[in-house]
Amino acid sequence: MDPIIRVIDLWKEYPTDGDKGTAALRGARLEVRSGEIIALLGKSGSGKTTLLNLLAGIDRPTKGRIEVEGRDLEAMGEKGRTQWRRLRLGFIFQFFNLLPTLTAFENVFLSLELAGRPDPQLAVQALRDVGLEGKDHRYPHELSGGEQQRVAIARAIVKQPLLILADEPTGNLDTQTGRQVLDLLVEQCRRASTTMIMASHAASTRRCCDRIVRIVDGAIVEEAPAVDFEP
Ligand SMILES: Nc1ncnc2c1ncn2[C@@H]1O[C@H](COP(=O)(O)OP(=O)(O)O)[C@@H](O)[C@H]1O
Ligand SMILES: [Mg+2]
Repeated sequence: MDPIIRVIDLWKEYPTDGDKGTAALRGARLEVRSGEIIALLGKSGSGKTTLLNLLAGIDRPTKGRIEVEGRDLEAMGEKGRTQWRRLRLGFIFQFFNLLPTLTAFENVFLSLELAGRPDPQLAVQALRDVGLEGKDHRYPHELSGGEQQRVAIARAIVKQPLLILADEPTGNLDTQTGRQVLDLLVEQCRRASTTMIMASHAASTRRCCDRIVRIVDGAIVEEAPAVDFEP
C-alpha cells in the first residue's frame, strides 16, 4: 500500500538560523502508512515541532517536499492547506490549546463546524468517548490538565481525521495522568484506524507505538520496530 505521508529531503531554516549556520530540519525523510502509530523521539530542539508544523501545513519548508494522500502539500496553496487541515487533520498540543472562552462542548463542536459537519450529537459522543460525560459545559479553567487534554483529544477525533499529529501530548501532565491520556489517545486512534505521529522527548511514549522514528539535529537517523525496545 502506498504511504499516506511521504516526507522527502525536508529542510527548514528559520530566518535566525543563518548566523548559527544550522537548520531546524536537515534533509528529513519519512514514510507513514495508513493506520500506523509513530513515536517521533528526539531531544528538545531536535526539530520535532518544526516537522509536525510542516506536516500540518502551518509552516512551510525551505526545501524538500511533503506528500499527503499522494498530493503535494505545497501545491495545494494556502487555502487548500487550511481546508485539508480542517477536514483531515487533528492536532494535539502540549499545552492543550483549547479556546478559553468556549466550553468543552463548544471547543469540540467548533472543530466539527470547521469541518462542515456541525452535528452536536457527534460532539457529545466524542466527549463521552474520552470519559468527560457530564463535563460538557465546563470551561477549560474548570478542568484539570488531564481533562483539558481529553477535550483536545475529543476535538481531534470527533471529525474522524485521516491523521493526528500530537506534539508532546503528555509533556505537561504528571506521570500517571500522562499515561492515562496516552492510553486513551492510542485507543481512540486504534479504534478508528487513525494514523498518528506523536512527538516526544520521553522514551516512555514508545510502548504503544508501531514504530519509533528518531530525530537528531533535524535528521531522521534511526527507525526500528517498536518491539525491538524494552517497554
Ligand atoms: N520560530 C522559530 N524561529 C527560529 N528558530 C526556531 C523557531 N522554532 C524553532 N526554532 C529552532 O529550531 C530548532 C528545532 O526546534 P523545534 O522544532 O521546536 O524542536 P523540538 O520540538 O524538537 O524541541 C531549535 O534550534 C529551535 O531553536
Ligand atoms: Mg517541540
